[in-house]
Amino acid sequence: MPPMHDPTDVQALKLRAAQRALELVEPGMSVGLGSGSTATLWIQLLGQRVRDHGLKIKAIASSEDSEHLGRSFGIPIVTFEDCPRLDLTVDGADEIAPGLALIKGGGGKLLREKIVAGATESFVIVADGSKIVNKLGKAALPVEVIPIAAPLIRRSLERLGFTVALRRSQNGSPYITDEGNLLFDCSGMVIDDPPALAAKLDTTVGLVEHGLFLNMASLALIATEDGLLERTS
Ligand code: A5P
Repeated sequence: MPPMHDPTDVQALKLRAAQRALELVEPGMSVGLGSGSTATLWIQLLGQRVRDHGLKIKAIASSEDSEHLGRSFGIPIVTFEDCPRLDLTVDGADEIAPGLALIKGGGGKLLREKIVAGATESFVIVADGSKIVNKLGKAALPVEVIPIAAPLIRRSLERLGFTVALRRSQNGSPYITDEGNLLFDCSGMVIDDPPALAAKLDTTVGLVEHGLFLNMASLALIATEDGLLERTS
């Protein structure tokens, strides 16, 4: 059985990683706001700097929730029209494997997260130590699909060996992404060759995006009970 952790300890670790990531922000930067509980802590810290200390930055958010949170602190939110390149994006991850191969999208925001990360010079992951794995696949791999193609894509994913579950909202209805698509959570398989799997998923028509983030992150700040790990790619 994995060790049980007090949720307040995990929260403190997430905060530690978020605090370290805040040190990377410089005045005048354009930043990407990630999504999920760890990125939320970072946005709150960043927002306090903007609101209380006049830090001048501009931001693009990877989800409606993060955009709303950023605006609540007065962080100027811009678009890729105004700002085609970001200096720094800070985001969470569901799994972090060697080489900073990641699974993301547990919070359902993987499409915008990948767009924002892809437009960023320095894509930094913040996480607690529970996210470290030797091989990806312990966490489900989220896959975003166009609704009409969902039955076809479910079969393709099952043929690859995955157990496929349609993501549902708390009220039991299908979870709809910020872009109006459905999400499949693909589990039951260790991902031995992430680039080969990504290549297959990338060429599946109707599959909008998947949660494999490969060769994107340059740094992971991972807070563990033994200290903060700084892993580079
Ligand atoms: C959101 O879609 C995800 O990619 C999150 O970044 C990821 O699930 C990590 O979230 P936590 O920081 O809440 O663990």
